[in-house]
Amino acid sequence: MPEMPALTIGTKTARLPIVQGGMAVRISLAPLASAVAEAGGVGLIAGSGLSPDEMRDEMRAARATTTGVVGVNIMVAVRRFKELVHAALEGGTDLIVAGAGFSRDVFEWAGDAGVPVVPIVGSARVAKLAERFGAAAVVVEGVEAGGHLGTDRPMLDLLPEIVEAVDVPVIGAGGVVTGADIRRTLAAGAAGVQMGSRFAATVESSAPDAFKQMYVDATDDDIVLVKSPVGLPGRAIRNPFSRRMAEGEFPAIGQCISCLKKCGKDYCIVERLERAQRGDVEDGLVFAGSSAARIHDVPTVAELMGRLVSEWDESGEGE
Ligand SMILES: Cc1cc2nc3c(=O)[nH]c(=O)nc-3n(C[C@H](O)[C@H](O)[C@H](O)COP(=O)(O)O)c2cc1C
Repeated sequence: MPEMPALTIGTKTARLPIVQGGMAVRISLAPLASAVAEAGGVGLIAGSGLSPDEMRDEMRAARATTTGVVGVNIMVAVRRFKELVHAALEGGTDLIVAGAGFSRDVFEWAGDAGVPVVPIVGSARVAKLAERFGAAAVVVEGVEAGGHLGTDRPMLDLLPEIVEAVDVPVIGAGGVVTGADIRRTLAAGAAGVQMGSRFAATVESSAPDAFKQMYVDATDDDIVLVKSPVGLPGRAIRNPFSRRMAEGEFPAIGQCISCLKKCGKDYCIVERLERAQRGDVEDGLVFAGSSAARIHDVPTVAELMGRLVSEWDESGEGE
């Protein structure tokens, strides 16, 4: 593979096979998504935790600043899933990535608007189901990923059986931070990669500086699994909040707005993610992938994309 190939999802083509993963709550908004799209990748605004109006406005803001491919990521587990999908469609989204559950309805809503749907899957069975319903591509997320985890298997272990199971493009997510990682993932059969953590620590990410610094400082020992009321484990950076949770000390829920279809009510995850997004990295939940331990700086998106292409080229020398 001499040059990084383009990535086509339905009718949309990005010059580079790099999808910036959607990151709630308010980590990946219009500034990050449009910078990634401008640099040739696919930018995703995370809709979970936003109101439908915010979703529509963010999408319109991104649309106004780039002609590249910009989509949204919305968790199926969120109660306002349908409203958020419709708001994203009104805002002019290029695609809809849907994780944390499986929705049949989204294919109909997006299909009516001619917008491709990309489910996040953790098994060949769900990948096939998604293809049957009309998925334009699927994202395979491995256990290395930041945020909620649907599997305990590494991405490169899962990927081949999903590539084998479906004919649509498969996008590998979890543990990808360098151009060499991208090469390895594409060599295993993926059409592209989705990267979350690496983009959380960029200038254009809407995470506060203290959050980005946690990534820069993190070592392998700092990356932990936390319980989430969504019902799936989540991967995060160790801090006083995660330590207290590991000891079974869950903070009381303030005002519950019933944001999830099903919630374990151990604590309010949106409130804790919002705290971290506002800069309280002691009592907030700092989601991050295991690869955060390999992130040592906070580049601009343009710098990062240039670096990924150079690393891709270098890692292929002699092939
Ligand atoms: C801070 C953070 C928030 C995330 N939020 C979401 C989310 O709202 N919805 C989702 O489907 N995935 C979410 N993810 C997962 C990413 O979209 C992506 O798939 C994952 O980060 C890939 O693994 P990596 O971090 O090793 O690159 C989040 C990840 C991080 C680091």
